Parts: sequence; structure tokens; C-alpha cells
Amino acid sequence: MPSSSRAKPAAPVSTVILGTGSFAPAGVLTNAELSQRMDTSDEWIVTRTGIRERRIAGPGESTSDMAVQAAAAALADAKLAPAEIDLLIVATITPDLTMPATACMVQAKLGLPTTAACFDVNAACSGFLYALDTACAMIGSGRYRHALVIGVEKLSTIVDWTDRTTCVLFGDGAGAVVVGPSSKPDVGLLGTRLGALGENVELLYIPGGGSAAPATPESLKAGAHTIKMKGKEVFKLAVRVMEESARDILEQHGLRADQIDCVVPHQANLRIIEAIAQYLELPLDRFFINVGRYGNTSAASIPLALDEARRAGRIKNGDLTLLVAFGAGLTYGSALIRW
Ligand code: UT7
Repeated sequence: MPSSSRAKPAAPVSTVILGTGSFAPAGVLTNAELSQRMDTSDEWIVTRTGIRERRIAGPGESTSDMAVQAAAAALADAKLAPAEIDLLIVATITPDLTMPATACMVQAKLGLPTTAACFDVNAACSGFLYALDTACAMIGSGRYRHALVIGVEKLSTIVDWTDRTTCVLFGDGAGAVVVGPSSKPDVGLLGTRLGALGENVELLYIPGGGSAAPATPESLKAGAHTIKMKGKEVFKLAVRVMEESARDILEQHGLRADQIDCVVPHQANLRIIEAIAQYLELPLDRFFINVGRYGNTSAASIPLALDEARRAGRIKNGDLTLLVAFGAGLTYGSALIRW
């Protein structure tokens, strides 16, 4: 048994993001390549989704491998050593194994202390926001000091590559943040608004392979272990719920939409982002958008975009950032961060 030498720190005033990192596998799959494999076209995919290409991890490149790359970059950015992390949360719907949690594999590969708490969160595309809120609450309790929060997916392994209505949408990647305490009020994670519409499970789900429908040779043949989505219904709900969630959190904090410096939305479809911008009456250039290069990477989407936004100089100290997500569950969430 490892001895727990965790000292009980005082509860911090706020929790801040100390560093960000991301990783995208080198393999690029373009719309032109997809068009050669199935009845689709670059024109259809770009017009309906804004996606031009996506990254696909290689067979030897696991979810935990991608998570480790993103986490190492976030730790370097935060100037923290793995030994200083006492909490690791991995948001993913594509764990390396059904059991145990991918967080445990990431812990071992990164060399985090054996006294660090490690677990996974499954909230699909909203997973990173659920994990971030959990980490901030745990640090806010004063019982944990530095958390690694990772959103990572290898969606290429759960996509039906014969279904053109879904396979063109998804990609692989990872993003990570390091969260820690701060004595400064009014900075860091100002608040979150999480929720779920659980009566809509079958709009976006994987029917087979769980305890309700264990894998059989027949279920494998029928492709029951791949993503099924009613795209039109999901689209409409995504726009409505992300707009409402953004409005709710702004209202909670007495803020107007035009006070947000940068919105980092879940990157599912450019048309969804355009609709939200229109409803919030914000110019599209207030949004950070990279869906064209990565497609929908579910839990990885927001932390990957957040890291790229920071590196592109789109987020500076003092700025107010709004994160907003929506995904299978159907889960949703928004978060406000003052840098
Ligand atoms: O992370 C959150 C979860 N996911 C989402 O947020 C995705 C939400 N939904 C969407 O983004 C959109 O609904 C899609 C991009 C999935 C689809 O766009 P749409 O404008 O709703 O198209 P549709 O499903 O109504 O399909 C229109 C037509 C259909 O043909 P018919 O029935 O009109 O003859 C489809 O069969 O486009 C056809 N189609 C395609 N054609 C070429 C569907 N997929 C493709 C394709 N290439 N890849």
C-alpha cells in the first residue's frame, strides 16, 4: 500500500488553469479520400459540416498514448512535474479497455504518484466540461492541489466506416489542462452549468457491447458496437441546448454575450456554431473554430481547441472565455473562465 503523505491544504479562493496541451495523431484523412471509399463528396461534407479533414490514430496509438502526449504538453506549459499532480480525470467514450479506467494507464505512463486519485468520466462531447467542473470542485475543497484534466478520443475505432451519415464527422485527438488553486478572487473557473436530457439516449448511442446487450457474433456482424445517430434531431437539440446553456451561465454571472472575448464551442459542425453565434448575436470571429481540421473529436474537442486558441494568441490574461458543449446522453454544459 502506498503511504498517503497528502497534506491537507487550505481551501483556495479560486481554481485556475495553469497550463494547456494537445495532441493530434499524424494520420490525416481528407474528404477526397473518403469520397473514394464511399458515396460522398468534399462538397457535401464541407457544405453540411465545415469539416475538410480529420486525424486518425494508428493501430499502435492508443487513447492513453494520445492522452499522455497532451498531458505532457500541459504539464510543461504549467511548469509542473508529474510528481506534483494528485488528481487525474480522463474524459473519454473510447477508453483503452472497458475496465479499468484509462486514467490508470495514463497515470502509469506519465509516472504520476501512486497517491493520485485517477478516474474516467463518460459524458461524451460534454465530458471535458464535466471533468473540469469535477476537478475544480475537488481542488476547491482544499483536499487536492493540482489536477490533470484530459479529454481524449479514438473515435475511429467506434465509427461504422460503411455509414456515410456518421463516419465523415468524427476524428481522433486529445487535449489537456492542468488545474490548480489560486488565492486571487475573480480569476479561473468562474462557474459552470452542466445538465443532461436523458430521455434522448437513442438519438446518439452505441447500442451493443454494454451489459444491456453484451457482444455476440450476431451483434458484431450487425455493427451494433458503432455510433448510431439521428443527425437532424441531434442538430436541432444541439443548437437549442448550447444556446440556452450559454445564456444561463451568462445570466448567472450578470454578463452580456458581447463581454465574452472568445467562445470555444464543442466542434461538431460549423453550421451548429454559426447558428449559436447568430442566436447569441455575436460575430463568428468571436468563436475559435478548428472543426475543419479535426472533425468532431467528442471529449477532446474543447481542450484541443482551447489549447490551439491559447497558442494562436486568441486568449490572453484578463480575457473572459466561454466554453460550451453538447453530446451523447444527451449531456450539455458551459463554463466561464477568466484568465
Ligand atoms: O457531438 C454532438 C453530436 N453530433 C452532432 O452534433 C451532429 C449533428 N447533426 C449534424 O451535424 C447534421 O445533421 C449532419 C451533418 C449529420 C447531417 O446534415 P443534414 O443537413 O442534417 O443532412 P441529412 O441527414 O438531412 O441528409 C441529407 C441528405 C440525405 O439524402 P436524401 O435522404 O435527402 O436523399 C442523406 O442521405 O444527405 C445524404 N447524406 C450524405 N450525402 C453525401 C448523408 N450523409 C452524407 C454524406 N455524403 N456523407
